[in-house]
Amino acid sequence: MKLTITLFLIACSFCTVCVAQKNKVTYEFPPEMKDAVRADYIKQWEKGKVLYEINCAKCHNTVEKRRVIVPDFTPEQLRGYELRVTNAKHESEITETAVSTEELGIIMTFLSYKKKNK
Ligand code: HEC
Repeated sequence: MKLTITLFLIACSFCTVCVAQKNKVTYEFPPEMKDAVRADYIKQWEKGKVLYEINCAKCHNTVEKRRVIVPDFTPEQLRGYELRVTNAKHESEITETAVSTEELGIIMTFLSYKKKNK
């Protein structure tokens, strides 16, 4: 019984660590951005992160030393609507029905302001 409780507690603390890591702040906004604007951007950024995970991550994320890496796209690569037609994979996968133009914009906010990989 004691062992069961001990194992349960170890599992709990492990989960807490994982959740804490997942919630680590990984965005970077320009320091001159006003607080009210920043609050709005943070909300958008978080929404964009979820949309990215659903629509883009399967093709673009890589794993390095067991860490999931979201690529650093350049501003030139993040061209909004044009992204739909940059290549055949995008043409078939990022259709207007799969990802609306508004959602694509929100995903761009996430990719533009995420912390860069080292
Ligand atoms: C079915 C796979 C697939 C999906 C889903 C996908 N992509 Fe791509 N994407 C590719 C491939 C293949 C390329 C070209 C090679 C590369 O740059 O990795 C590419 C290229 C890109 C580029 C670089 C474009 C350039 O002009 O250099 C960006 C930015 C990008 N994708 C963003 C996204 C975003 C945002 C999403 C989600 C809305 C997404 N991709 C979904 C496969 C995919």
